[in-house]
Parts: sequence; C-alpha cells; structure tokens
Amino acid sequence: MTPAEPHVNDRPLPAGEDRPLPHTPSAASPLAAAPSGSLKGRMRAPGDKSISHRSLIVGLLALGETRIEGLLEGEDVLRTADACRALGASVIREGEGCWRVRGAGIGGLVEPSAILDFGNAGTGARLMMGVAGSHPITATFDGDASLRKRPMRRILDPLVRMGTAVVGEAEGGRVPLTLRGPRETVPIVYETPAASAQIKSAVLLAGLNSPGRTTVVEREATRDHTERMLRLFGAQVTVEPEGEAGRRIAIQGQPTLCGTEVVVPSDPSSAAFPLVAALVVPGSEIVLEGVMMNPLRTGLIATLLEMGAEIERLSERDEGGETVADLRVRASLLRGVDVPAHRAPSMIDEYPILAVAAAFAEGPTRMRGLHELRVKESDRLAAVAAGLAAAGVPNAIEGDDLAVEGLGGKVPGGATVATHLDHRVAMAFLVMGLAASEGMRIDDGAMIATSFPCFVPLMRELGAGIRDA
Ligand code: S3P
Repeated sequence: MTPAEPHVNDRPLPAGEDRPLPHTPSAASPLAAAPSGSLKGRMRAPGDKSISHRSLIVGLLALGETRIEGLLEGEDVLRTADACRALGASVIREGEGCWRVRGAGIGGLVEPSAILDFGNAGTGARLMMGVAGSHPITATFDGDASLRKRPMRRILDPLVRMGTAVVGEAEGGRVPLTLRGPRETVPIVYETPAASAQIKSAVLLAGLNSPGRTTVVEREATRDHTERMLRLFGAQVTVEPEGEAGRRIAIQGQPTLCGTEVVVPSDPSSAAFPLVAALVVPGSEIVLEGVMMNPLRTGLIATLLEMGAEIERLSERDEGGETVADLRVRASLLRGVDVPAHRAPSMIDEYPILAVAAAFAEGPTRMRGLHELRVKESDRLAAVAAGLAAAGVPNAIEGDDLAVEGLGGKVPGGATVATHLDHRVAMAFLVMGLAASEGMRIDDGAMIATSFPCFVPLMRELGAGIRDA
C-alpha cells in the first residue's frame, strides 16, 4: 500500500473546533492520477451529504437538543452549520463527526445579521431558502461562482405562492438573492416541475411554518431523506403513491419538532468513486463499509450489476433508520448497457463516475434523460463529455442522452480535465487516471473537499497513485 502523505484534501477537523477551515479554497489544486497496481483494503466513505445537511437544518427547527453522529465534515455541510447558527441555533462540534445542535424551533428563527454564504452547496442553499423564506425575517443568500450560475427560480416559484417576497435577485433568479418571509406562510399543493428532492424539500420545510397541510406531488420519486428526517423529529408526514412512479407527500404544518439522535450513514454517492476504481483497476478487491442502501439512491449499483460488476452486499443492517451494507467489490470485465431515463433520480449524482465505468466497458453505453445534469455544480453533461473526449473516449451528447463508446479496458487518458468547480467531475476523472494507459490530470481538486474531504488520502491507502500535479 502507498502510505498517505499530507495533502491539500487531508484536512480532518481538530477536535473541539467547528470551523477551523477556510471554506472556499482560494487556490486551485491540480492533481494527477497514475496507472496503479491493484487496489486492496477497506474504506468507509464519509457521512451522507444529503442527510448531513438535513440533520442540521431540522435540528435548527426543533426544540431541545439534537445529537448527530457521523456528520459529513465537508465544506458544503459546514456552510449549512454556519447558516443554522446565523438563524438562531447553537451548533457545536464535540468530536470527529459528532455535533450538537440546540434548535431555535419552528417560528423561532432570528434574522441573520450577515449574508448566508453557501459556497458551492446547492442543497444547503435551496433547503434553507424554504426554511428562512417561511419566516418573517429577511435573509440574503449567496455562494461561489458555481452556485451563482445555478437556477433558483425552481425554489422561488413555490415560495412566492406560499407568501415569500423575493426582495432582490441576480439576473435569471440566481444568487445573490434576498427573501422576506410572510407573517403567515400559506400552505399549498405543489407539483414539482423536475424530479428534484431539493425542490420537494424546500416546499416541505417551508410548509412546516404554515398553519395547514402542505402537499408536494412528484411524478418520479426522488430521495426521501427530508420525509424520513421530519418523521424522526416527530412531524406528521404522509406519503402516497402517485401515478406510475411518483409520490404525493403531505406535511401538517406547525408541529413541535423535538431534538433527537441522528446517525448519518456512509454516502453512496461518495462510495461510488472507490467502487468504480476497484472495478476498473485490474486485480483490485476492496470492501466499502456501511454504505447506505436507500433504494432511491442505489441506481448506480443496479446499473453496474447489469454491466457485469462483481459487487456483493454483505452484512445488511439498520443504521439510523437506513439499511446499510458492506460492499465487496472486485475488478470486473464490464459491458456497455442502456440506462433508462426513469433511473436518473436514483443515481443523479453518479453519472460522471458511471461514464468512467462505461469508458472501460466493452461496447456502447447510453445514459438517457440527463437534462438535470446541466444544472448541477457545473454543466456536468458537457464537462463529462469534454473529459471523455480529452481522454480519447469516443462519446456524443444526443439530446438529453450521453452515448459512450466503451474501449474494453484500453482507455488512452493522458489529458487534463477542466473540472469547473465540480467535485464529482474531479473525482471521476482521477478514478479514470488510475486505469488509463497514460493516467489523467485534473485542473483543480480543491472542490473535492465539499463532499469527500479525505478522498485523496483514503484512495492512496487503497493503493491509488494520486498526487499533486
Ligand atoms: C440532493 C438532491 C439532488 C442531488 C444533490 C443532493 C439533496 O439534487 O443532485 O447532490 O440532498 O436533496 P436535485 O434535487 O436538484 O436533483
């Protein structure tokens, strides 16, 4: 095994400190991945980002104390912790991944005295717009260059129907923007215009501070972490099937949420990177510990199994109300597949790394219905297509689909990929470099710290040749 060396992304928080890191890395941090010998060993990917954000946010809205174990201490989540403080919660880090939140309670938020800066984090910003926008306070939201490009109209539209005033916004409904919440939030029935857990969650969280029943209808089921978290804290949430694949979710407003214990399971969207690395680097065998297996998050595993991946689910158990499993992954000969559009919500963050798996597979892969990828931390569809092309992998964007011509294990590589402030593009192409003939480089790995702060050292412990470039 390659010993871990100090590295820009190897920055665990010292115990007792809750914001010791500069949030937005100021300098670019180019990284290189070289063709590596077999990956071996065990790894636990960090806490789930979606659940981490929600545990802090619902802790803010609860009365009493919430204790969180396994919180992802990535920069995105630290921004949400800051915003919770600015809105009136006490948020204290007690040790690695262990945090304590004393909430302000629904209706009890205070007006923030400064701009809420969410950095790179779309989830934190959008969910918090639902929270702050349903309280009679004025709050301004901002973020980095990536967040400033992302559409917020999808959140503002339902909030305006609930009574929120958009006092100011950057062109096209983007941050920086300022919301002023109404004296009394109006409960609504809202059909989401896109399969988006962030839209659903913003509306449900706003509905918490309204006097009636707020309903969200989604045509395709998306990750249900908000619904689960609200129930855990004592809210009444009903979920009914809607049409073929959708759901109708209703929440009774103005409940008393009670602080509780939250255990955050390991993030399947982060585990995806070592998982695909082990599949494509010949001779590899690794175990990924305690990966969350929520069925609304396992689309990548379903797809990789169809491609012929050797992935075993071991020791399935319950952790914090979610099923988790250890995943044993062995290097596998993959074959190209057709990935249906209806699977997108269950693997929406996994397409960059699936595209890398597809590049190493035998034959073509078509990933359908990827329009939402255009509004992620970058235009991921364009960024992934450009990265594949630079690495010598034939591919095409056809409408909302990405078609990749698999090269059967013989990916040339040897290119530098532009990551556009996108952590998942960065990690995906580093994984590619571990098995590509000429390795790969990325222009900037600093954003990896938003979701997977110890990615580089943990990968190196498995034997991955990743270093500063
Ligand atoms: C998330 C939902 C997804 C996902 C994001 C996290 C969440 O976004 O891409 O990384 O925690 O709700 P959309 O809901 O916009 O698809």
